[in-house]
Amino acid sequence: MEKHEGDKLDEIDRLEPGHQFDVPVADRVLRLPPYLLGRINEQKYRKRREGIDIIDLGMGNPTDPPDPKIVQKLCEAVADPRNSRYSASAGIFNLRREVAIRYEKRFGVSLDPHKEVLATIGSKEGFSHMCLALMGPGDTCIVPAPSFPIHVYSPALASANVLQLEVTQPAKFLDQVAHICETLHPKPKVVIVNFPHNPSTTVVDREFYVELVALAKRFGFLILSDFAYADVCFDGYEAPSFLSVPGAKEVGVEFITMSKGYNMAGWRIGFCAGNAEMVRALATIKGYYDYGIFQAVQIAAIIALRHGEEARLEQSRIYQSRRDTLLRGLERGGWEVEIPKAGMFVWARVPLPWREKMGTMDLATKLLDEAEVAVSPGAAFGPAGETYLRMAFVEKEQRLQQAMRQINRCLRGESVGSKA
Ligand SMILES: Cc1ncc(COP(=O)(O)O)c(C=O)c1O
Repeated sequence: MEKHEGDKLDEIDRLEPGHQFDVPVADRVLRLPPYLLGRINEQKYRKRREGIDIIDLGMGNPTDPPDPKIVQKLCEAVADPRNSRYSASAGIFNLRREVAIRYEKRFGVSLDPHKEVLATIGSKEGFSHMCLALMGPGDTCIVPAPSFPIHVYSPALASANVLQLEVTQPAKFLDQVAHICETLHPKPKVVIVNFPHNPSTTVVDREFYVELVALAKRFGFLILSDFAYADVCFDGYEAPSFLSVPGAKEVGVEFITMSKGYNMAGWRIGFCAGNAEMVRALATIKGYYDYGIFQAVQIAAIIALRHGEEARLEQSRIYQSRRDTLLRGLERGGWEVEIPKAGMFVWARVPLPWREKMGTMDLATKLLDEAEVAVSPGAAFGPAGETYLRMAFVEKEQRLQQAMRQINRCLRGESVGSKA
């Protein structure tokens, strides 16, 4: 027996060194474009390990704590051993009912919590698996450009073709969707929308969805509405829900999340709501892939939805004030920016001389190295994003002021941060 194992080990030894064992990764992985946001993040972590205090405007990753009521409920629920068991893959019923109540109260949308609401491991997971549930080879999907990467990669991972349409003028986007549906064979199967939009911050009114639903019915496509920034709106603007349009539930679903408005990004909890057939298809895929979200998190999310409205509104006010701080700094540096009405980002056109000097990936790297500020390069959101930088206003006001001083000084050629 021992000799037998020894022979095998000798055989393994003989294959080394220099023997390259190829791992034949699937085409769907090889086909993925490089994840530029991941590259900037790696550089940021490296700098921080070197002890450099990088100010992070890169990700829409909240820095404020969740409402203490939610944290307290989580702690209580963790202490109950029943919550350590596998939970229901679709999410516990009381949570799905709470989502239906919230939709009714805020958007006047009536949902059946049994069939039309599903809990997801963050909205990104739900969105990605929905793409897998709906699309396959030969299907075409329309995606907004510039693009939040997962809007492109999820259909691509499902082997669908992706058509990117410029989104910053929503009326034109609708015209182009109609034109493509009239001319493309086979017609697109899915249209993805994401308003308030990441990264461009474009918003729409309810009329946009009335027209989109009418187009979906006329041409027979399905709609996936990524409503991740539903909870973070400014200046009295209220982002409309796609589901609030009559007929929306016949043609699509919407994804919402606890990550942004409730500061629960790391808790990984979101929802898919709308068309029962689509919800069922997603539930089927998820039934195979996962056992549901940690039940204590689901129970705490019920409290967030039931009692967290005031904290959510206060959080939006905090973001609005941070937005204004960032905008003042950008204005001082001569940047062109539209004032975002929602979301956690400013989408800033790079000032002209720098636009001509280098691409946004190089500019973001320069700002990380020399200004010690992490921003997201527009190129990470596809060619339509080139010439822009995305800056998240998640850090506290003082840090945002400091970040803008450092960025503006760096672009004037002055040394800043640890190099000053
Ligand atoms: C447009 C958009 N959709 C989805 C997500 C992911 O949210 P979640 O944390 O719910 O997965 C984000 C997060 O940055 C986002 O910007």
